Amino acid sequence: MKLIRVLGIETSCDETSVSVVEKSTDGSIKILSNIVRSQLNVHKDFGGVVPELAARAHSEIIDKITSLALKEAKIKFSDLNAIAATAGPGLLGGLIVGTVFAKTLASALKIPFIAVNHLEGHALSVLLEHKIAFPYLLLLVSGGHTEFSIIKKFNRYKRIGTTLDDALGEAFDKTARLLNLGYPGGPLIEKCATKGNQEKYKFPMPLFYEKNCDFSFSGLKSSVAQKVLNKKITDKFKNDISASFQRTIAAILLKKTQTAIETFNKETKNKITVNIVVAGGVAANQFIRSSLESLEEEVNCKFYFPSLKLCTDNGAMIAYAGIERYERGLSNNLSFRPRPRWPLDKKAIFMKGKRISV
Ligand code: KG4
Ligand code: ZN
Repeated sequence: MKLIRVLGIETSCDETSVSVVEKSTDGSIKILSNIVRSQLNVHKDFGGVVPELAARAHSEIIDKITSLALKEAKIKFSDLNAIAATAGPGLLGGLIVGTVFAKTLASALKIPFIAVNHLEGHALSVLLEHKIAFPYLLLLVSGGHTEFSIIKKFNRYKRIGTTLDDALGEAFDKTARLLNLGYPGGPLIEKCATKGNQEKYKFPMPLFYEKNCDFSFSGLKSSVAQKVLNKKITDKFKNDISASFQRTIAAILLKKTQTAIETFNKETKNKITVNIVVAGGVAANQFIRSSLESLEEEVNCKFYFPSLKLCTDNGAMIAYAGIERYERGLSNNLSFRPRPRWPLDKKAIFMKGKRISV
């Protein structure tokens, strides 16, 4: 049986991850290793990721993590067919570390270098665990991205909605910072929310009534800032704000997902169950998960949440996207330059900050 093995490198944000994924001729896929080292300790005092420190931390451990990934996979460099690395979107310093390392390995081993779009990694990661057919709907909610895309098939992606300002994880992190909870904010807000009153505070719901799949979260953060102003931040206050904030987010996601399902059905002329994949760090939130899953009773849809390790940034999703590209002969020149901005849908316009009208 012929095996394809690809090494995947992820360094676009604050996780250094290297993985080996294997695909055999019968189509079965195995994650042989997926080593993830978080830089939480490097950034926690700053309440967010510091790009320069992130790049340095990636460069300090990438070689060790690679050796570990090979060791755990029980293979040698010579068993690899290609080296894939995230080449964007993300923080430029980290992308340079990952891609230069990948290009050097590929060149020394005389095997292809594959530049992977991080969002393609997230979009396909569910296929490492579940057999779901194309097309499916992707809701990506992480610290850097918030978008709905129709995953029509490999390499054909259509973005149908995105955030006009903050990413959802960013909104969680900024709110947590205002409440002095620490970083990353998402899990801490989720924890506080379990003890709070979700009806206590009202937050704005921008774009809620607009019949599109776009989001805006910066107003929410400003509203939290106003409520925090001149207030003593007691545990009760933290819990009530967290619960109310989380409930508001869940309501926005639910409403926008309903619209996204309608858009999906129209775009793909779908009449059967819509498979919806929810990926990115925020997909770890249990309250949001259950709220979304409640839609299954009303609408003909089914939710898939990749397991936590595949939901957040990881090398396995990059290695897997690399395998799909390798099989189609889609490799890249060593002159490929990392792209801090790189939409998955080539036709998607840049929506943050300055809006380009079309
Ligand atoms: O996908 P991810 O690990 O990294 C990227 O940003 O690409 O996502 C990290 C984000 C952070 O903003 C973090 O606060 C958020 O995901 N997050 C959560 C939860 N766990 C992580 N947000 C809400 N609830 C959670 N349980
Ligand atoms: Zn990500």
